Amino acid sequence: MDSFNKQISEAAAIISKGGIVAFPTETVYGLGADATNPTAVARIFEAKERPRLDPLIVHIAELDQINEVVHSVPPKAALLIERFWPGPLTLILPKKEIIPDIVTSGLSGVGIRMPDNNIARSMISLCGKPVAAPSANKFGSISPTCAAHVSEQLGNCIDMILDGGSCSVGVESTIISFMNEDPVLLRPGGLSLELIQKEIGKVIIPDTTDYKNASPGRSLRHYAPSTPLRFNKDTAPCPDNMKVGLLTLKGDSTGNYTVVEVLSKTGNLNEAACNLFAALRRLDSAGLDLIVVEKVPDEGLGRAINDRLFRASASRNN
Ligand code: TXA
Ligand code: MG
Repeated sequence: MDSFNKQISEAAAIISKGGIVAFPTETVYGLGADATNPTAVARIFEAKERPRLDPLIVHIAELDQINEVVHSVPPKAALLIERFWPGPLTLILPKKEIIPDIVTSGLSGVGIRMPDNNIARSMISLCGKPVAAPSANKFGSISPTCAAHVSEQLGNCIDMILDGGSCSVGVESTIISFMNEDPVLLRPGGLSLELIQKEIGKVIIPDTTDYKNASPGRSLRHYAPSTPLRFNKDTAPCPDNMKVGLLTLKGDSTGNYTVVEVLSKTGNLNEAACNLFAALRRLDSAGLDLIVVEKVPDEGLGRAINDRLFRASASRNN
């Protein structure tokens, strides 16, 4: 066995024994525990300092594993699974008893996804159990897209970090709930709404303030750097005496900024999503007074980018 496979086996063994391990997925790094072990899952909430009312997504390695975890898969959910798994899509479906209440914060639906990352799937497969995993960051802060981001925030309080390099998608999965008659978008993410709608037709899109009710953990302020962030750079002039950083899609705007982060020179929204969180982290550590960001087009992965930036800008008492 080569040394990386050994690390994957070690990670799986730690999770099987009730430990918590950070691992790569195509979206962001997750912090995983055995989803059927409430004590292990409790450690995730402690390490992240995450409120218990914010449920966790359960990750599986093979399609069949879904039947261990959920009671039924409605036809439209089955269509999405066939078309988009493994991939950046989480479905909320009625949970079976095997998933303890701590995972779903007492809700009757569980979020489930099969990640498109071989390291993640090998690890889950070796565990032989579904793996509950939120993003591997402290609650409310920016999601990690490489192992170094994880170790900065959680290095001291978790059992292992499996380093699989940088994440290829870079924003979290799109979440669709099938707990009501019509499918509902709970979080725009790494799979575009356009592709989902093409497959299953109508998807209910709650207005942004409704997300909080639809998905308990989606408190408005999230994905946030510690530097104040203004979502739409044109809403107010920047004071001259401030050090201001700009986060821009293509870098074609003018202005007097201390630092400029360009997400994609060609305006490619997939590339922009992939660069988003690392760029936000760089701006946050540049000693700025303010970060201003440009809204990107609200299409494809642009929807997820705008959602994260809007939440990052929400006032601190939300
Ligand atoms: O791409 C992703 O989804 C990453 C990787 C690691 O898979 N995970 C992730 O997890 O972003 P997390 O915990 O940071 O965000 C999951 C969101 C939470 O805000 C939660 O409110 C919602 O999904 N969620 C999870 N389970 C749910 C459920 N049963 N019902 C409603 N919302 C749920
Ligand atoms: Mg998260």
